Amino acid sequence: MYIPSITFFLFVALFHSAHLSTASRVLELSDRFLDIKKDGQWLIMFYAPWCAHCKRLEPIWAHVAQALRGTSIRVGRVDCTRFTSVATEFSVSGFPTIMFLKDDVHFTFRGDRTKDEIVNFALRVSGPPVQHITKLESLDNIKANNPLFFLYVGDSSGSLWEVYSEVAEKFQPHGFFYSTGEKIAKNHAEIKKAPTVFVFKETVFYEFEDDVRDLESQDLNSTMFNWINAERFETFPKVTRGNIHQILQTGKYLVLAVVEENKLLEVPPDMIDFRDMVESVIRKNKKRLHKNFQFGWVGSPELANSIAMSVLTLPHLLVVNSTTNHHHLPQDEPSQLTPEAVEVFLDQIHNQSAPAYGGNTLPVRLYRTYFEARTSLSEMWQGNPVLTAVLFGLPLGFLSLICYSICCADIMDAEDEEEDVAHEKKE
Ligand SMILES: *[C@@H]1O[C@H](CO)[C@@H](O)[C@H](O)[C@H]1NC(C)=O
Ligand SMILES: *[C@@H]1O[C@H](CO)[C@@H](O)[C@H](O)[C@H]1NC(C)=O
Ligand SMILES: *[C@@H]1O[C@H](CO)[C@@H](O)[C@H](O)[C@H]1NC(C)=O
Repeated sequence: MYIPSITFFLFVALFHSAHLSTASRVLELSDRFLDIKKDGQWLIMFYAPWCAHCKRLEPIWAHVAQALRGTSIRVGRVDCTRFTSVATEFSVSGFPTIMFLKDDVHFTFRGDRTKDEIVNFALRVSGPPVQHITKLESLDNIKANNPLFFLYVGDSSGSLWEVYSEVAEKFQPHGFFYSTGEKIAKNHAEIKKAPTVFVFKETVFYEFEDDVRDLESQDLNSTMFNWINAERFETFPKVTRGNIHQILQTGKYLVLAVVEENKLLEVPPDMIDFRDMVESVIRKNKKRLHKNFQFGWVGSPELANSIAMSVLTLPHLLVVNSTTNHHHLPQDEPSQLTPEAVEVFLDQIHNQSAPAYGGNTLPVRLYRTYFEARTSLSEMWQGNPVLTAVLFGLPLGFLSLICYSICCADIMDAEDEEEDVAHEKKE
């Protein structure tokens, strides 16, 4: 405690460009940061002043710094347009990039840029990959505060333990991993035999061996990897552009309730009812459906539209096959759907009797690109017609000017030649 605080003091005193930004605990860092990057744990935002996403992240970043007070994690930011050497050192290619640095390793944050996601990410990677629980109260506490975590029960030795800790290390940025003895765990889960691994999601838990039947036929390593990869999402998360790529790696069908949030992140009541209805399907049939279906909801229809490549009416139900990227839409009017109808629809998808659209073939990808370009253009037009007209009108104007001059030049050149020829003939 003594040494770090001294170095910290020196750091603040020595680097004149490092200061606490107004009313926030975010450290503004310079290229001298490179000299001290291995000193303690850092959560850094690499930004550029012109980047709009960085501006949006700024207030969130201040809250992150506030939330991580009292921990050993220091929160800072680097202006990469001024200190390009820092950006180069960490191979920063886009803005904003969020990275956690400790010792010689760094982790890049790839989730949704909300305060909770970022804080949880930092807390996860700041500790060891698997944290050992020794007190009964600690497990109560973890259950109360984490909607999702993995728990290994048994002695810290043997092949299951080795595989668990190896996979935990790989998924450390994405999930919380704990271990404990049978005595503590049996208050929270029914333990048929130890060692074993559980995932706790809100009020339910699933056991590794229940989910994975052909344990013997496959190698434990990849089985554990796939299981943790598939189970590391909550029962009904909000799906955004930030996390959909992670969720699609589960290898399950992604079942999305598509609704529209307003600017204050509120969902209108009729859409809330629809979302609740979809959520009730997974909550009531968790044990049966969770192996093949990952549920979730989308608050911005653009994301769902770009998957479906059409403008969906709202609310809507969209199911994506995460391996082939095909999607399924219910044949009935979505707002009339009942939980029973949704279950039948999912059964049909699972036995592959429901019609599938889209996919991942080149023509579909091209069409999706075209659809997204067209949508963003029409959004731009609605948002600011004058700017859009100027942006697209100017290049078009130039282009026609160039075309015009090329054509005219040709004609004039030709006329010149003819004249020359005529002169020659005269002479
Ligand atoms: C598990 O797989 C990783 C690579 O995916 C490999 O490095 C490791 O040695 C494997 N462990 C076991 C116990 O097979
Ligand atoms: C996706 O589609 C393929 C091919 O039709 C199928 O084999 C697979 O089971 C489907 N489901 C998921 C979740 O990938
Ligand atoms: C698929 O599941 C649906 C709903 O359970 C059922 O009506 C249909 O007969 C099944 N189709 C096949 C080919 O199994």
